[in-house]
Amino acid sequence: MVTRLGVNIDHVATLRQARSGHEPEPVAAGLMAQSAGAHGITVHLRADRRHIQERDIRLLREVLVVPLNVECAATVDALEAIIPLKPHWVTLVPETREELTTQGGLDAIFLQTSLKSVIRELRASDIHVSLFIDPQLDQVKMASRLEADAVEFNTGVYADLPLGADPSGELQRLKESARLAERVGLKVLAGHGLTLHNVGPVVAIPEITELNIGHSIVGRAVLVGLEAAVKEMLAAMNQGRA
Ligand code: PXP
Repeated sequence: MVTRLGVNIDHVATLRQARSGHEPEPVAAGLMAQSAGAHGITVHLRADRRHIQERDIRLLREVLVVPLNVECAATVDALEAIIPLKPHWVTLVPETREELTTQGGLDAIFLQTSLKSVIRELRASDIHVSLFIDPQLDQVKMASRLEADAVEFNTGVYADLPLGADPSGELQRLKESARLAERVGLKVLAGHGLTLHNVGPVVAIPEITELNIGHSIVGRAVLVGLEAAVKEMLAAMNQGRA
């Protein structure tokens, strides 16, 4: 079984917004990643619109043939912006204005009341819902109780371990959480901070069927081109899975 790769193209838009202009075009990046073998495209519509804009999502939805996944905060404003754009998936993430990137997973237990209505609204609009959570059994159980379609496990803690630190504890948490998530019928994804160098042990967890990877692919793309960067990540994933 191949582990699917969702390419997050936010940072193509970050580069465009640096000059508030037209280049580089995230829609072109989405198409290029798709033709290089990406199984899905992910973007994060942030409240401050620091990179991806509604217009990017509208155009991506129109031109892509692979599923489009939009990450957003579980807020009324985000839903009002995203539901009319009809992405295939929405991934609910915690979001604060000060952060450079998503910090940690959602606390689905603390937020259960608000998440319940957000999930219901998205599903009523024929949009599949994934919750970005830390690899903890209680969070998985709550995601299942809230009737999410999928969970995406935060690999940020694993990815940020200092050089030489033993990753086995964090990998074990990912394995146990992935096993439970699959058992209760959730689709299982993972992502955050994954690179060519650390993706192997994550892709080797059989219950994880899809990874969302952004910064390292777009960073490599600056040096080797986007198509090559996607292909080398797919190759690293195949090797890790084997
Ligand atoms: N998954 C989620 C939920 C995220 O918020 C992000 C970052 O936007 C990613 C995956 C991708 O993380 P990275 O850019 O570190 O690969």
